[in-house]
Amino acid sequence: MTGIVDGRVAVVTGAGRGIGRAHALAFATGGAAVVVNDIGVGLDGSGRDATSAKGPAQQVVDEIVAAGGRAVANTDDVADWAGARSLIDCAVDTFGRLDVLVNNAGFLRDRMLFTMGEAEWDAVIRVHLKGHFAPLRHAAEHWRAEAKAGRTPDARVINTSSGAGLLGSIGQGNYAAAKAGIAALTVNAAAELSRYGVTVNAIAPAARTRMTEATFADDMAAPATGFDAMAPENVAPLVVWLGSAESAGVTGRVFEVDGGRVSVAQGWRHGPVRDKGARWDPAELGPVVRELLAEAPAPEPVYGA
Ligand SMILES: NC(=O)c1ccc[n+]([C@@H]2O[C@H](COP(=O)([O-])OP(=O)(O)OC[C@H]3O[C@@H](n4cnc5c(N)ncnc54)[C@H](O)[C@@H]3O)[C@@H](O)[C@H]2O)c1
Repeated sequence: MTGIVDGRVAVVTGAGRGIGRAHALAFATGGAAVVVNDIGVGLDGSGRDATSAKGPAQQVVDEIVAAGGRAVANTDDVADWAGARSLIDCAVDTFGRLDVLVNNAGFLRDRMLFTMGEAEWDAVIRVHLKGHFAPLRHAAEHWRAEAKAGRTPDARVINTSSGAGLLGSIGQGNYAAAKAGIAALTVNAAAELSRYGVTVNAIAPAARTRMTEATFADDMAAPATGFDAMAPENVAPLVVWLGSAESAGVTGRVFEVDGGRVSVAQGWRHGPVRDKGARWDPAELGPVVRELLAEAPAPEPVYGA
């Protein structure tokens, strides 16, 4: 098993199923040793997977090892401070180094905002936003120490945002807020960590997994080519490339990826401006704001609106 990540060590969170599983298999095929993290929860973050005596992380490790690759299972909760620390330590203790962190784990608790409860808000913000920050924080501390010891890393973080976080999504206010936060965290982390040899990018994927099987229910394979545009395996090649040394210099970006499509999202930018040079009176702002809106590009529609 060799490829563009040969000899690198990658942590992939939520890698027991879906998109994360495909990432882990692709990193292993590309020659990386992989820490396959998954706590094995249900779609809404509750319970533990009872479909097998082995948890989903160990099942993916077994697949990788059977194919001749190197992997170890880890069942820490990514949003638990000590768990995230132990996940990063697992890579260094098992394989001697850490080169790539792919933050991917998460779950949904969809509700319209007027019926969403505090627990649904807290759980989704926790697993996605803190579940990205905590492993990133511990990995960043490790890489900064390496750089200070004269071993500047060539390290990569790939975060997982979502179209919901970039444009909004009806019935997913908690998830959209967490995923928008992940896009902002990505830009911030890229700026803070560049001096230590670390790039930080994010993806906004789309694929058929248990999370989206209602949305992408049909087999969407193109009849002529057999290409299944919604297969989770379509997302992994970009993530492997971003995790490789070849992506040097690419940082602070969010890429949308699904099927055979790769695109770079264009985020918030300063827009049209009027400066009075003094404090505005509320009564005079109506025409000013309408002029600005006429000059600015219209926002893209919110998903499901
Ligand atoms: N499927 C899509 O179209 C789509 C679209 C946009 C974004 N995403 C994002 O991609 C990522 C992967 O989603 P998926 O569709 O593969 O979902 P999935 O449910 O198939 O996989 C997510 C995995 O994360 C694990 N997990 C949940 N909480 C965890 C925790 N605290 N610690 C460790 N592991 C945990 C689950 O056990 C599960 O195996 C998620 O961040 C999701 O929001 C997916």
